[in-house]
Amino acid sequence: MKSPSPNLKRNPKEPGDTEHSAGTGSRQSAEFVPRIHTEIAGVHFQNPVLTASGTFGYGQEFAQLIDLNCLGGIVVKGISAEPMPGNPPPRIYETESGMLNAIGLQNVGAHEFLKQKLPFLRTLKARCIVNVFGYSTADYIRCLDILNAGDGIDAYELNISCPNTRCGGMIYGSDPKLTEEVVAASKHTARFPLYVKLSPNVTDIAVFARAAESAGADALSLVNTFVGMAIDVENRTPRISNVTAGLSGPAIKPVALRMVYQAAQAVKIPIIGLGGIATAEDALEYLIAGARAIQVGTANFYAPETALRVVEGIQDYCARKRLHLADLIGTLRIPGAEPRKPTEY
Ligand SMILES: Cc1cc2nc3c(=O)[nH]c(=O)nc-3n(C[C@H](O)[C@H](O)[C@H](O)COP(=O)(O)O)c2cc1C
Repeated sequence: MKSPSPNLKRNPKEPGDTEHSAGTGSRQSAEFVPRIHTEIAGVHFQNPVLTASGTFGYGQEFAQLIDLNCLGGIVVKGISAEPMPGNPPPRIYETESGMLNAIGLQNVGAHEFLKQKLPFLRTLKARCIVNVFGYSTADYIRCLDILNAGDGIDAYELNISCPNTRCGGMIYGSDPKLTEEVVAASKHTARFPLYVKLSPNVTDIAVFARAAESAGADALSLVNTFVGMAIDVENRTPRISNVTAGLSGPAIKPVALRMVYQAAQAVKIPIIGLGGIATAEDALEYLIAGARAIQVGTANFYAPETALRVVEGIQDYCARKRLHLADLIGTLRIPGAEPRKPTEY
């Protein structure tokens, strides 16, 4: 897998450096301090970089490795109403440019999350987003009902897209009617803003983005992992006990980016983009495609400082381009097409 590199070096001569200029000359250039905060459904993030569910534990596991207060937000591992043990091993397999996982949504359960994990998370400047899943609409509601007591939760991220549970999430994420049903019921119950995480394992992402929006989603996260598999040819056995697994990491980025772009064209609610982000340049692609924030996932496993480097790289890029983050989001320049207006929030 590619490791994050200190990319996007300053090049003051690069074309575009004077756009949205607050003045002229190198003195002003040195003085321009971009604003990179963002807002999603009433939640204010100090920067647009979050860590993705299932790749960052409950946050505290990474406290010795990076300064969590520099993150925009932390999306915790998927929580269910009851604790879950997950799938039997092997559950992870490294592939070229990515990884396969079938953890099976192992988690401490909603009550233990409130007791053991939330008190630490609410001390941080990083926003706390709780990823929620269930096997039925009633399960989702039960879990939300418990979590609603959690002071310090900033928003929910509804996982309707996990490919590793047999009768659960994935069914919702691959049927627009069920997407509407579970989102509408969850929105009715949720005390905090509801972000809905979509599956990439569909033919037309715009259909699902619109279904979630019309059912009341406050924002969308996309994407979750792509269904894949790997085989040990010596033994002719699957590399993962679940046989199929979710593919993540740099391998999925171009497809995920295309889906974020298409979803951003299809809906008005904000979008959080993720899939294979390992550098600031990756993140900037998502922001320019229309995402208002991004998440770093698989890269946390091999380079835990990735998210912080991405924050720095976005800051440097915006300073060099003399742009605030809001002036960048969704501003893909397509030759011959009308330029989009900057985002307002
Ligand atoms: C080991 C592992 C566990 C994951 N667990 C969850 C989860 O509990 N809930 C969820 O919505 N997504 C989960 N995901 C998906 C990630 O949050 C993310 O959507 C996906 O990995 C794509 O981003 P990436 O390529 O940056 O990793 C998991 C991913 C991995 C690799």
